[in-house]
Amino acid sequence: MTDGARPAQRDLEGGVERDFRQAMSYGDYLDLDRLLSAQHPLAQPPQHDELLFIVQHQTSELWFKLVLHELRSARDLLRGDQLAASLKRLARVKHIQSTLTEQWSVLATLTPSEYAQFRDFLATSSGFQSYQYRAVEFLLGNKNADMVPVFDHDPVAQEMLTQLLHEPSLYDEFIALLARRGLPVPAELLDRDWSKPHQANPALVQAIRAVYEDPEERWDIYEACEELVDLEDNFQFWRFRHLKTVERIIGSARGTGGSSGVPFLRKALELTFFPELYSVRGQIAESR
Ligand code: HEM
Repeated sequence: MTDGARPAQRDLEGGVERDFRQAMSYGDYLDLDRLLSAQHPLAQPPQHDELLFIVQHQTSELWFKLVLHELRSARDLLRGDQLAASLKRLARVKHIQSTLTEQWSVLATLTPSEYAQFRDFLATSSGFQSYQYRAVEFLLGNKNADMVPVFDHDPVAQEMLTQLLHEPSLYDEFIALLARRGLPVPAELLDRDWSKPHQANPALVQAIRAVYEDPEERWDIYEACEELVDLEDNFQFWRFRHLKTVERIIGSARGTGGSSGVPFLRKALELTFFPELYSVRGQIAESR
């Protein structure tokens, strides 16, 4: 309070006032009318908690959009031998991943009985049909052609995924960069059918081991390897929090997409994008 009963107020400063008069407003620039009218709860009678469910998914999809933007760029920068610039992109992705992982705590406030009030209205829709999530997986290297027909109902999504399936992943481009930097990378990793997932390669583990045993020699490569491990760790943290949130909301029930639910999600924790970066750790630890 300033003078007795009146609360302190901020005067409109000249700059702020001027912005209000300009042709483009905050809402125009962000297309807020469209964004904020894109939430369509379906439950009848209306259920208070359905909005949380929708907003949680929509915000995740917005962040996935930015992750894709950054990862594509990071991959293309690697192709152009711009390692430092690529790592800058990955640093941002890591922060987005932390936000996405932290965000599960909001959904965890949804109790099983609250979810049960609108679950039937979701019918067979499921996060399994998130084409952006699948695109992120493809970009990181978890290629799976069987995922493409899931999007038969959405030709634009399907085309995007088909294209990414056939392009080298971020990891493929990193491996190619290692070869250009003179590391002994097996030739079969440099020209292959990119639509198949990368297979763990013992010779690549040896090449990466040389980097870890003498970090000073190729510090930027060493740093990049650790950034990729951070990225994979973060991805797994997201998967784990999804699994645990799902478990506390639906327990052992099947998913709306028709899977076994939690057991299906648990299997994803065994996947790895960058197998050699993990194998090298075992080798170093066992060699001591
Ligand atoms: C009450 C909340 C949620 C429940 C009960 C739930 C449950 C499930 C289940 C059971 C699956 C396996 C497929 C299926 O049978 O449907 C799944 C997959 C998936 N969900 Fe969720 N989910 C929830 C929220 C979210 C949110 C907020 C997102 C954010 C986008 C999300 C993204 C995904 C993705 C990307 C998959 C595919 C995972 C994979 O293929 O490994 N889910 N979800």
